[in-house]
Amino acid sequence: MKKTILSIAAFALSAFTVCFGAETATQRALGQEAYRPHVHFTPQAHWMNDPNGMVYHNGEYHLFYQYYPDGTTWGPMHWGHAVSKDMMNWEHLPIALYPDSLGYIFSGSAVVDINNTSGLGTKENPPMVAVFTYHNPKLERSGSNVYQYQGMAYSLDNGRTWTKYAKNPVIPNPGMRDFRDPKVSWNEQTQKWVVVFAAGDKVRFYSSPNLLDWTFESEFGQNIGAHGGVWECPDIFPLKAGNADKTKWVLLVSINPGGPFGGSATQYFVGDFDGKKFKPDNTEIRWIDFGKDNYAGVTWSNIPKADGRRLFLGWMSNWQYAEKVPTDAWRSAMTLPRELSLVPSKEGYSLVSQPVKELDAFRKNEIKTAVKQVNGSKEISTTVSPVQLKLTFAVNQKSGKQFGVKLTNGQNEEVVIGYDKVKQQLYMDRMKSGKVDFSKDFPAITSAACPVENGKVELNIVIDEASVEVFAQQGKVVMTNIVFPTQPYSKLLLFSDKGKTKVSECKMWELKTP
Ligand code: FRU
Repeated sequence: MKKTILSIAAFALSAFTVCFGAETATQRALGQEAYRPHVHFTPQAHWMNDPNGMVYHNGEYHLFYQYYPDGTTWGPMHWGHAVSKDMMNWEHLPIALYPDSLGYIFSGSAVVDINNTSGLGTKENPPMVAVFTYHNPKLERSGSNVYQYQGMAYSLDNGRTWTKYAKNPVIPNPGMRDFRDPKVSWNEQTQKWVVVFAAGDKVRFYSSPNLLDWTFESEFGQNIGAHGGVWECPDIFPLKAGNADKTKWVLLVSINPGGPFGGSATQYFVGDFDGKKFKPDNTEIRWIDFGKDNYAGVTWSNIPKADGRRLFLGWMSNWQYAEKVPTDAWRSAMTLPRELSLVPSKEGYSLVSQPVKELDAFRKNEIKTAVKQVNGSKEISTTVSPVQLKLTFAVNQKSGKQFGVKLTNGQNEEVVIGYDKVKQQLYMDRMKSGKVDFSKDFPAITSAACPVENGKVELNIVIDEASVEVFAQQGKVVMTNIVFPTQPYSKLLLFSDKGKTKVSECKMWELKTP
């Protein structure tokens, strides 16, 4: 694996980054460091990649994450840990899982074993169980194929301390080089635990009565979906299909490389699952997000039935340049937490993502904009970050060929979030967004098919220090891209080229830092 080779370089750099990172993190208050987001999760210092072990328990959302505490590039992986009551305001906790003689702690998931099927807790105090991949660098270096296998740890104190299971690994490797990222869930139909994980460019399903003894059930992915790279970090869950009294299953599969705009991205399949085998409704390639920066996202387990939401979080970066982005004390943020749902579409059912409603509580004050129409460009705000912007453009034959929003600063740097009426596409252009030359893969224009609906294009945009997330047409088309202006953006403009575009709604709120 490329990342293991990189880890040697990361180790060499770590002495430098430890001193540098620790110093800057304490000197500067959170929110004042360049590019430190306000409403997105970041580690206090050092390197982070995938979200892991997302589980709700006793009133807390747990977020674990791939973490290298000794540097700002990828290195020997630990599970960092934070908890929140609203997925917005995070309390940082000590590292939950450290590498051991079996290997680094790669991605995985966590559940609450409510009926104590594992026997590792009691009915009164059910264990939290984390299932993760051990990645053994020594075995990998020795040329062996079996250097990744699934291990387990449990906690009896609300995730504050963890004990590794004495008989790890719980799922040994049958001889496959990429064998990782277990996502566990309870299956109501079979009354068994199910795990899905990535195996090369497919996923595998196993089942278990007790989280300890696992039986192989099936494999999915041969000749289906995108295969430009290795499959990683799958998740499978049921969702209500539209308003119908019907349930469909969604399988998320991250892929790297091979995303629609290069590098990392997450595809999804909609179909049926009986706890053993997944059958997709169709075999087209479908992406959860059309930006470059939403990877390895999975959903929280154990959300109370009364809530019933399916809540998602992704890593807001891309392996093409994640280790080169120009932040210093830390590297990478998570996406906003998002609620997933299914809507009927010409493909059968399509996945919709919207920011969680908890974000609304962070609207500080409304920025009044009386704009009704735009022809050319019109400045609407000098407060640009962090903000949420809700815009509805009324589209007809006379309206502009391209219209949308621009963020700019005194350096003529800009991010364009536009709609192309002729191509019926949403796009985001970060070619001139500021620092772009740290990687040849960073400058980009991302785009996605996005039909006008009932004569309207609706955009819900969240702008934080170094990211733009666009939820178009009520979350049917999503685009997440990170940006690094050399000076903060200081103007927000609406634009319309080659025609006047009617703006039937333009609401904007400043967001407060949790
Ligand atoms: C995805 C990934 C996972 C792996 C982890 C290692 O970004 O490559 O497949 O478990 O990162 O940090």
